[in-house]
Amino acid sequence: MSVKPFHMGWFMEFSPDEWNGPFGGGGSPWSGEFYVEMAQALERACFDLIMAADTLMVSEAYGGSMETYLKHALLVPQHDPAPLAALMASATSHLGIAITLSTMGYPPFLLARLCRTLDHISHGRFAWNIVTTAENHAAQNFGLDKLPDRQLRYDMADEYMELVCQLFDSWEPGAIVMDRETDVYADYKKVHPINYKGKFFSSRGPLNTAPSPYGRTVFLQAGGSPRGRTFAAKYADCIIAIGAGVEGMKSYRDDVLARAAEAGRNPNDIKVLFCVTPTLGDTEEEAQAKHQRMITNPSFIEQSLAFIAGITDIDFSKFDLDKELPHLTTNGEQGSLDMFAQWGSGKKLRQLVIEASGGLLASVELVGTPDKVAERMGEVMREVGGDGYLITSPSMKISRRYVSEITDELVPALQRRGLVRTKYTKTTLRDTLKEF
Ligand SMILES: Cc1cc2nc3c(=O)[nH]c(=O)nc-3n(C[C@H](O)[C@H](O)[C@H](O)COP(=O)(O)O)c2cc1C
Repeated sequence: MSVKPFHMGWFMEFSPDEWNGPFGGGGSPWSGEFYVEMAQALERACFDLIMAADTLMVSEAYGGSMETYLKHALLVPQHDPAPLAALMASATSHLGIAITLSTMGYPPFLLARLCRTLDHISHGRFAWNIVTTAENHAAQNFGLDKLPDRQLRYDMADEYMELVCQLFDSWEPGAIVMDRETDVYADYKKVHPINYKGKFFSSRGPLNTAPSPYGRTVFLQAGGSPRGRTFAAKYADCIIAIGAGVEGMKSYRDDVLARAAEAGRNPNDIKVLFCVTPTLGDTEEEAQAKHQRMITNPSFIEQSLAFIAGITDIDFSKFDLDKELPHLTTNGEQGSLDMFAQWGSGKKLRQLVIEASGGLLASVELVGTPDKVAERMGEVMREVGGDGYLITSPSMKISRRYVSEITDELVPALQRRGLVRTKYTKTTLRDTLKEF
């Protein structure tokens, strides 16, 4: 029976690798080489893309102190992913390279310029993960007293997107003529100011970069709240998400694709990738033992809680691990909080942490031999309806061993089942995502 393959991405950050383990890179990956090697490994395994997260703060949300974040290298140090994207692009030829850039952090003009520059450097393999930023501590690094509320953030982001897209279009495709006869590099009649004046942003334009032969930059987004989902559905080529189990994944995907159809888009143009953190072993027992060691480690529980605190601005050190959570709301990542808390499930906090598997990253539990995990990934995708997975490592710490387990053990098991690609047939990320 022939099956439809699914897409694979990897969600990482330009942060310390698994610095205190034997297969890390020593904890100072700042030259970028460790992650460039990782990108090459993912390309050998025919991944669609690697995606770098980004946040813009040193959090104090857990226990009102920076201690836990600095002690465990959690969300900090976090280096700028844009130069890393350029390095990864020049060391690969087919892998998509996505980075997170915040609409709060970048003026729209600079962001459009950076995206366009990376589109060219990567030959059409670059993508922007659009985030509005969700932490007060980050807002305070940009001259604000606190984060604007979610509604306003997304209203601003809508305007931001309109402006950025106009800047992308401010050069007509044939504007660069390079005519030696007439001594003309670019035809000024094909380059247009945009004179954008919005409520929040304005820009004269045109953009001062060369137009892209690859169309506009590929957009990733991860809206979780209803407003966030509408935003993702309107713009994203690829939506990255966490689903609470198969049902949660299916209902998220159905919902976000319905919103895309309402916005007049063809839902088939959008790929939804779900975060998972597989734990692999040579035998079932070995994989289970590894998983147990991880989830019962007190440092793992503390790191998970601090991570969730960091992205919700809620102090999770206050709650009893052996009780249910009170109902919580946040102006931060509400969608992620809802996914983590599984409201109404009656589960105790400890169980929620275990199920989130190192942050907020596991949509379904995948523990076992590569063959068993591959089989399960196929079943889940059939039930959910598509479109693929975003691999992450617990607490986002990466070791060469983990990368190799995924690329050299899990991926071949998936490939043997016809579940993922065995070669690239396209050169740009947009085409790679649309291949199936
Ligand atoms: C897989 C995934 C990756 C994300 N990466 C980032 C990131 O790097 N930086 C960031 O500020 N937010 C990131 N977010 C947060 C989302 O942009 C969004 O705020 C979150 O999913 C909550 O949705 P909401 O804003 O609709 O409540 C990520 C979310 C998910 C699910």
